[in-house]
Formats: sequence, C-alpha cells, structure tokens
Amino acid sequence: MIVAETIVDCRAAVAAAKADGKRVGFVPTMGALHDGHFSHIDRARRAEAFVAVSIFVNPTQFGAGEDLDAYPRPREADLDACRQRGVDLVFAPSVEQMYPDGPTGGRTSVHVAELPDTLCGRSRPEHFAGVCTVVAKLLNIVQPDVAYFGQKDYQQAAIVRRMVRDLDVPVEIVVGPTVREADGLAMSSRNAYLTDDERAQAVALSQALQLAADMIHNTHPPAGRVIEAMRAHLAGAAPLGEVDYIQIVDPDTLADVPATDRPVVAALAVRFPHARLIDNRVID
Ligand code: PAJ
Repeated sequence: MIVAETIVDCRAAVAAAKADGKRVGFVPTMGALHDGHFSHIDRARRAEAFVAVSIFVNPTQFGAGEDLDAYPRPREADLDACRQRGVDLVFAPSVEQMYPDGPTGGRTSVHVAELPDTLCGRSRPEHFAGVCTVVAKLLNIVQPDVAYFGQKDYQQAAIVRRMVRDLDVPVEIVVGPTVREADGLAMSSRNAYLTDDERAQAVALSQALQLAADMIHNTHPPAGRVIEAMRAHLAGAAPLGEVDYIQIVDPDTLADVPATDRPVVAALAVRFPHARLIDNRVID
C-alpha cells in the first residue's frame, strides 16, 4: 500500500495505476475509520482494480467552536485497517499541503446553491462550502473513475452529486447504505465522544426514524404529525438530547414536504452534551 502525503506523490501513484489500465475507485474520509467507511472501501475493492482512500480532517468544513481539534486522528490504526482491506493508495495530506495559503487563505470555494440551506446547513452555515471545496480538490487530485459516499450524510451526498453534475466532473458517484451498530445507532467517528448515558439514549434517533417509517407505511399521515411523534419519542427516550432539527423532505430537492404519500426522507439531528448526532431514512 502506498501512503502519499503530497499531491505530487498521490497523482503519480494514480497515474501509474491508470497507465496499467486500472480503473480507480476512491473513498474520501476524515479517518477514525469504522465499519461505515469499510463498507465503501470493500465495495470499491470488489468493483475496481485500484482503490484509493483519503484521510484528511478538513478544517474548512468545521465551524467556529466545533470539534476540529478534538476530532480523532488514529493515523496508524487507520493505515493498518486500510492495508488489511487491500487498499492500494492512502492519500493523507497535511493541512499545509491542501491549503498552502492557510485554511481560509484560498480565494476559491465551491458553493452549491439552495441544497445547503436546510437540514444540517441551517445550524452549520459554512459546512457544505467547506465539504464541496475539499471534495472538488480531492476529486481533481485523485481523478477517480468512481467515488463512494454514505447515505448517513444524505445531504452531503446530494450536494456532492449536484456539484459533480453542475461542474461536469468526470466521476461516477455511488452512495452506499448506512452501517449501524447492533442497536441501530448509525456508526460515526463522533460516537466515541458520547458518555455511557448518552450512548444509551442515542439509539432514540434510529428508533424515531423507525417510528416515522411505520407511521408513513401504515397511514401516510401529514408530515407534521410524523415529526410531532418523532419529537415526542426523543423527548421520552433521549432526555439528554436537544433536537436540532427533525424534517421530512423531498429526496431530491431536500425541500420540506407536507404529505407523505410519495417517497420522502426523514432526517434528524440531535445535540447531546458531548456530540451532535445525525441520522436519516429514505421512506418509500
Ligand atoms: P467522514 O465523516 O469520515 O465520512 C466519510 C464517508 O463515510 C462519507 O461519505 C460518509 O457519509 C460515510 N459514512 C460515515 N458514516 C457512515 C455509516 N455509518 N455508514 C455508511 N457510510 C458512512 O463525510 C466526510 O468524512 C467528509 O465530509 C468528507 C466527504 C471526507 C469531506 O471532508
């Protein structure tokens, strides 16, 4: 496995693979790898001859007062895990390598209109411009044939798809399902921040989504009634959590929908004292 820390080395490794006629699958991550990340790596491994993973805690997608400094960076364990999974190339650049003029010194950022104005974007207003800018840079550096993202971050995947389409980036975007703990909690590098009590209550997010799916499948109630029921469940089952949002949205536009008689996405974010958790479920 090649570990490239510079853009030049990363490009050289990919160019050599392409010269051998290999297709390149790419999984961008911020590290602290877990089974959610591995699901994408394994999928890429099955589909493509050359698999690249990036590990970069991107400062521009963290807001002031968020967890940039605390974000886990278990570099050696991540590299070992990638080696074990048959990854060919890990691109693990420094902040200086990605942002030579400093994280806020660059003069170009990629901003997708409208899609970031809802859900997580409401409480993290700069987040998706930071994500799009770094993903655009990573796609330009690695130039993969296919890039893999998780449904766990539904809004992120929708925005990246839109960016790739609007900018004619020659890459196929594949979105894989959310990988969960045995009790239903969506895996996340941030789950490690939770205290035992918070971890026990965090299961309420996926329970609230299950409740939404059951209500919608049974009677297609107005979205407002579903949201009320989800809120009531969280109030009872996760008293340590403060709801950031609960929304029922259109799967493509992410606009709030009033009715649930067509496919929708139920999505929520809950702030626990030590971590803000998100989850979502596509309900057909
Ligand atoms: P990170 O949170 O490390 O996630 C990397 C990829 O793994 C994302 O596509 C995310 O949706 C996916 N993922 C995370 N948890 C998952 C789970 N439980 N099941 C399935 N997939 C999961 O998302 C980012 O990093 C960054 O924003 C990034 C795209 C790398 C840009 O910096």
